[in-house]
Amino acid sequence: MTRANKLAGKKIAVIGGSSGIGYGAAEILLEAGAHITIISSTQEKVDHAVQQLSSTGGNVQGSVGDVRDEAAFTDLLLALAPLDHIVFSSVDMIIRGSVADANLSDAAELLGVKFWGCFVVSKAIAKHDIVVPGGSLTLTSGAAALRPKKGASIGGALNGGLITATVALADELSAKRIRVNTVVPGLVKTPLWVKLGNSEERLNEIYDQAAQMLSVGFVASPEHVAEAYLYAVRADYANGSTIVIGTFFFFSI
Ligand SMILES: NC(=O)c1ccc[n+]([C@@H]2O[C@H](COP(=O)([O-])OP(=O)(O)OC[C@H]3O[C@@H](n4cnc5c(N)ncnc54)[C@H](OP(=O)(O)O)[C@@H]3O)[C@@H](O)[C@H]2O)c1
Repeated sequence: MTRANKLAGKKIAVIGGSSGIGYGAAEILLEAGAHITIISSTQEKVDHAVQQLSSTGGNVQGSVGDVRDEAAFTDLLLALAPLDHIVFSSVDMIIRGSVADANLSDAAELLGVKFWGCFVVSKAIAKHDIVVPGGSLTLTSGAAALRPKKGASIGGALNGGLITATVALADELSAKRIRVNTVVPGLVKTPLWVKLGNSEERLNEIYDQAAQMLSVGFVASPEHVAEAYLYAVRADYANGSTIVIGTFFFFSI
């Protein structure tokens, strides 16, 4: 094995890989020669993503799984075991808005996918032999964790909590020789922003405005932040790490 083909034939599950940032991670890991299983809760999205990813060649399959259902999701991971690595990027919606107007029941429900979903997966791999020794789990936070502003107190706390969890999980899973890291993306053009009800026109305005304020001069697409996932999966010395890629750009939705 050479350094270039370190991930060749490695079995990697990308949870949330049917869209956006997870799709970008699946694509770059596939290009690195890994065997990818993308997982998300909608059959149609999984099928579409598998079809698109396989059109460029490579070994890719899909499974439908909902991280809100701990027992069924754990069974799914057990069925896919042994895995070399897991990437987690699932999210339902972003929680934004003033705390005075917050619907706390809705917010608690939304934590079910991104926040508790990470723990459903972490618990499964801590308790069972799902990821092989020497493997890894890569989570996804968000730049609102680092520069929280008004309107992002709940979402920022969720993202900050995942960074904290990463450090503790890395310590705990070291007994199984499984690394845990978190990617912290800045603004990325993904279907998430459309799902939040923004029109294409409004999104283009936001992206143009953001591009002028970001030092790189453009807003990332998933392929740009995919590099951070490749690093987290490949780098044997990275554990408990927060890998920041991009800058927080806040806008109201
Ligand atoms: N986009 C940004 O600007 C940005 C910035 C910073 C951080 N992030 C973070 O990056 C991560 C990915 O965001 P994204 O923009 O790529 O979002 P996205 O395009 O909406 O993708 C979300 C993925 O999660 C899956 N998912 C949703 N509910 C699920 C469930 N119950 N069980 C399993 N999978 C589920 C979706 O597929 P199904 O609908 O089929 O389940 C989809 O594959 C999130 O943690 C987000 O907070 C994004």
